[in-house]
Formats: sequence, C-alpha cells, structure tokens
Amino acid sequence: MRHDILLVATLAATANAFQLPFSIPKLFSSKLILPTPEQEVVGPTTPRIAIIGAGAGGSSAAFWISKAKERFGVDVEVDVYDSKDYIGGRSTTVYPYDDTTLPELELGASIFVEANKNLWRASDEFNLTRRNFRDEDYETGIWDGEQLILSYAGGWWDTAKMLWRYGYISPKRTETFVRGMIKDILTLYSRATPKWDNLSDLSNLLGWAEITNTTTEAYLAKQGVSAKYINEIVEAATRVNYGQNVDFIHALEGGCSLAGTGASAIAGGNFQIFENFLDRSGANVYLNTPVSSILPSTQPQQWSVKSTRGSIDYKAVIIAAPFHSTDITVPMSVSDQIPDVPYVHLHVTLLSTTSPYPNPAYFGLPPSSLVPRMMLTSNQGARQGRKAPEFNSLSYHGAIRENEWAVKIFSSTELSDEWLANMFHGQVGWVHRKEWDAYPKLPPTSTFPPVKLDRGLYYVNSFEPFISTMETETVSSRNIVDLMLNDEFNASICGRSIPPPEDNESDSEPPTQKDDFVYGWDC
Ligand SMILES: Cc1cc2nc3c(=O)[nH]c(=O)nc-3n(C[C@H](O)[C@H](O)[C@H](O)COP(=O)(O)OP(=O)(O)OC[C@H]3O[C@@H](n4cnc5c(N)ncnc54)[C@H](O)[C@@H]3O)c2cc1C
Ligand SMILES: *[C@@H]1O[C@H](CO)[C@@H](O)[C@H](O)[C@H]1NC(C)=O
Ligand SMILES: *[C@@H]1O[C@H](CO)[C@@H](O)[C@H](O)[C@H]1NC(C)=O
Ligand SMILES: *[C@@H]1O[C@H](CO)[C@@H](O)[C@H](O)[C@H]1NC(C)=O
Ligand SMILES: *[C@@H]1O[C@H](CO)[C@@H](O)[C@H](O)[C@H]1NC(C)=O
Ligand SMILES: *[C@@H]1O[C@H](CO)[C@@H](O)[C@H](O)[C@H]1NC(C)=O
Repeated sequence: MRHDILLVATLAATANAFQLPFSIPKLFSSKLILPTPEQEVVGPTTPRIAIIGAGAGGSSAAFWISKAKERFGVDVEVDVYDSKDYIGGRSTTVYPYDDTTLPELELGASIFVEANKNLWRASDEFNLTRRNFRDEDYETGIWDGEQLILSYAGGWWDTAKMLWRYGYISPKRTETFVRGMIKDILTLYSRATPKWDNLSDLSNLLGWAEITNTTTEAYLAKQGVSAKYINEIVEAATRVNYGQNVDFIHALEGGCSLAGTGASAIAGGNFQIFENFLDRSGANVYLNTPVSSILPSTQPQQWSVKSTRGSIDYKAVIIAAPFHSTDITVPMSVSDQIPDVPYVHLHVTLLSTTSPYPNPAYFGLPPSSLVPRMMLTSNQGARQGRKAPEFNSLSYHGAIRENEWAVKIFSSTELSDEWLANMFHGQVGWVHRKEWDAYPKLPPTSTFPPVKLDRGLYYVNSFEPFISTMETETVSSRNIVDLMLNDEFNASICGRSIPPPEDNESDSEPPTQKDDFVYGWDC
C-alpha cells in the first residue's frame, strides 16, 4: 500500500537522518590556469601546508591535496595537527565495558546516507564494510514529556492511525521538499560543481536563500504541511539529529534531518574513513599536538604555526575545527571576521542494559506495555505549557551479547544514575557519558562565516552553520583545497583534466559523466 511506504519512509528517516552538502559561490574555476610541470615551483624547499584538525574536514583536506599531487605533481608537504590522541574528531567510537570483543558504539557522528557521495565512495574504495541501519529497525515512538503521542511498529493498524493523525498530504509535501533539496545538493558532485568563496553566494546559487533564512516550521507551513505533522514528526527528526526544535532551526538543516533514507555506518567505526584519508594522503600526522597560534611569519607570504613542535612556517593553513573551540590565537584582522557561532552542548549517554524495553511507568503506560525502543521527542507539549521531554532521543542499538542491549540517549542535561536506573528497571550495566559541542545552533540566517580568512588561510568549518555533517565537511574541504591550490599553486584537484564547459551536444559525448561520477574522485 502506497501510503504505508511513504509514511514508513518518512518515519524511518526521522529516526536516523542525516546528510548532505553544499552550496556555491563565484566560479573561481574560470580563473584556473594550470601550470605545465616545468612551471611548477620547485624552490629550495618544498612548500608546506598545515591542516589543523584530523576529523572529517581535516583528514579529507589532506586527501584532496594528495589527489592533486598524484595527478599533477603539485609539490607540497602537508602536516596535519590534532590536539587529541586519535583521528576522527567528532566521529569516534567506544566499546561497552571497554571490551573490544563487544560491538563498538559511535559516540559522535553515527550515520551517513548514499547521497553522501564522498563517504559512500570512500567506504567503497577503502574496502570498508557499510552496515545498513535497517538491520536494527525498531518500533518508533514520539514522547512529548507527558504523553506518548505516537507509537509506530509498521503494522497496518499503526499505519492507519498515522494516516488518521497526519493525513497523506503533509508527509507527501515534506518528502517533495526533501527530495528537491537532495537533488540540488547532488550538483556539488558533478563535473560542473560550483566552487565558492562565500557561502551566501552558494546558498543563492542553489536557490536556498529562503530555506536558510526561514525556520523549518515556517517554511514547511508555507508548503502546506500541517502544524501537527511539523510539530511532531518533523520535530522528532530535528531533535534527534540536531538537538533543536522546528521553530528554531533553519529549514535547510531541518530538511537534512529528514533525509535519512538508507542510513549507514562503517562496521568498526566511521572514523576509519578518516584514518584512510590520512594514511593514503602521505601527510605527516601530529596527534596530541595542539596548535596555539597562527600568525604572519617574518618570512613573506608564510604563516607561522605554533604548537608543541615549535613554530613552523607554512605557505597555507587550513583550519578544520570550529574556530571558537580551538583556542588558537590569530591576528585580530582574522578573528574579527569570524562570527561567534554557538554550538549545541549535547550530553550523550551510552549504556548497556538487560532490560529489553524501557520502563512503561516512566511513559505513563500500563506495566505490560512494550515501550518503543526508538523513542523520539517533540517539544509541542512544552510549547503548550506542559512539561518538556527530559531527553532528545532514546534508542536501543542492538544486542551487545545475549540478553544485553546497547542504548544511546541524547539530552541537553546530564541524566543521573537514578534516572537511568528508573528508565531501565535497575538493570543498567555499563555507562559512558560524553559531552560534545556537537553542531552549531542553526537559526535562520543569510550570512555565514568566511571560507577564506586571509591570503593562504582557509576555514573548513565555515560550512557548519549551513549544514553540519561529516559529509558536508568533506565537501567543504574539497572546495577549500581547490580554492587554495588555485590561489597558491595555479592548480586544482581535477584541474588539468577538466575540459572547458561545453554545451555542444554533438561533441559532448567523450567524457561521459557516469551516474557514479563524483567530482574530486573521478575528475
Ligand atoms: C553526538 C553527535 C552525533 C552526530 N551525528 C552525526 C551523524 O549521524 N552524521 C553526521 O554526518 N554528522 C553527525 N554529527 C556531526 C559531525 O560529527 C560533524 O559535523 C563532523 O564530524 C565535523 O567534522 P570536522 O572535521 O569538521 O570537525 P571535528 O570532527 O570536530 O574535528 C576537529 C578536530 O580539530 C581538533 N582541534 C581543535 N582545536 C585544535 C587545536 N588548537 N590544535 C589542533 N587540533 C585541534 C579537534 O581535536 C578535532 O579532532 C554528530 C555530532 C555529534 C557530536
Ligand atoms: C579492496 O578489495 C578488493 C577485492 O578484494 C581488492 O582487489 C582491492 O585491492 C582492495 N582495495 C584496497 C584499497 O585495499
Ligand atoms: C529571505 O530570503 C528571501 C529570498 O531571497 C528574501 O526575499 C527575504 O527578504 C529574506 N528574508 C530575510 C529575513 O532575510
Ligand atoms: C558574502 O557575500 C555577501 C553578498 O553576497 C556579503 O554581504 C557578505 O559579506 C559576504 N561574506 C563574506 C564572508 O565575505
Ligand atoms: C600562476 O599563474 C600566474 C598567471 O599566469 C602567474 O603570474 C603566477 O606566477 C603563477 N603562480 C605560480 C605559483 O605558478
Ligand atoms: C558543435 O559541434 C559541431 C560539430 O563539431 C560544430 O559544427 C558546431 O559548430 C559546434 N557548435 C558550437 C555552438 O560550438
């Protein structure tokens, strides 16, 4: 039954959604002039590039630079710095009971989707195994702090109840919006991808000015989606994915929250993609090495990067961490340009329990009820003066061994041991708590941080207030590496092999763009 499929798709999306990328600005590609090998700078010392941060953004930046080295012999040496002792940043795993024989759990970024073409392609090329989240399809509920307003296990009766509650049109219109957005995003992987030095320009170019300057609630309402659907289903998605409500978060990120079809993760941990990026890039990786300042060097056209390794000069520096979290000193002319972007302070609680379901009493249900194991939330009750949910999402994540399950809870405050004991009938085994500055607060806006901060100084995380995901960080870094290579080396990731754009149908045949073409990988 059609309705069934549609509703299921929408709800499933709600559960795990995440997603995609970008925007565009002025085509600096028109300025691209590629050197012949003899023209390349081969100075007494090879030019060095520093990358600050070994998460999705920094590791992929190193990888994109290595593609240009491999393809065109761009002669550079790359140093990657991270203050932590691991690669992956906000993408990292832990093991229940610290026992590596048990299945790992993602502590930060957990899923990506097929439209995330860089991560998808990377997992193929690096022979990493993708796990599909359909494998752990749990019944889903929506809790408003006082009532379970929806419970969906997929049967016809539940589907009928959903249809009765929300109708057919609202899910359909929402889906149309999300599909259109994904289609726009995919242009960023084509040969003709825009390249940008200003995110407002990219947003305008993609036709997203209104989507980014409007709340999810206002935008969807304007599309004719019902308030009930927005306040319950859509908000469940924005809260689990970004810890923000529909009357706050902009509609672009709201749409991304709903784009979770085909959610996947890498078996063993998503961070392996980022380890592979670095391994294959040939970059020098310095972990446990916080950078404390990036200042103009006494040498012309160089930046002096200070860390526990000392002060080293670089021709270009790529900052791939949220600037305000880095504690890096830069010239005031640079810091003044970077707006203060507040991040959502998120509490992640991972635990194991022998209780197969959460406690029905907590949800005001009779003792025999089977509480949905994917419990999402809506703030609608609180808006009407009732109690707000104490958590953003609470989800079972499969068995870690016989009769013991992993659970992940996101909340805006710490959940006490007593709270957990009550929720899981006193049957809590291992608990791991982590606080993250997870993603930016994403209110409607039409201005974004600068992509290029100064000559030779670039900012990957300028993209986050637009869209914040692992994938979009790899797209932002690709754009920045192209910008940097263009500015400093007369090169680009795909430079020499990109034919000038031609719309001549009769001879546009030769470089056929296959469906699986991904700019930067295929050129
Ligand atoms: C709980 C949670 C769930 C999420 N879920 C998803 C999801 O399902 N899917 C998804 O795509 N995204 C998700 N995200 C968002 C995603 O994690 C981020 O968008 C992405 O990982 C950011 O990558 P990055 O490389 O830009 O930044 P980061 O991963 O934060 O990397 C920055 C790195 O810079 C380092 N650093 C900082 N300062 C310095 C310094 N001074 N010197 C040296 N190094 C420094 C840091 O140690 C860090 O390793 C989630 C995030 C969280 C927290
Ligand atoms: C991935 O696996 C295939 C098939 O086993 C193999 O041919 C290929 O070399 C592997 N690639 C990498 C990068 O390890
Ligand atoms: C939002 O964007 C639209 C489309 O560009 C524009 O007409 C409108 O003025 C903008 N609104 C605000 C508040 O910036
Ligand atoms: C981006 O361009 C807009 C105009 O399109 C401008 O107002 C804004 O200042 C620019 N942003 C940056 C960071 O340069
Ligand atoms: C890049 O090209 C420009 C114009 O052709 C030239 O002036 C400049 O010296 C070149 N720079 C490098 C680093 O090759
Ligand atoms: C397109 O290609 C054909 C055949 O090569 C040529 O005759 C024609 O002039 C081209 N048209 C344009 C607009 O370049």
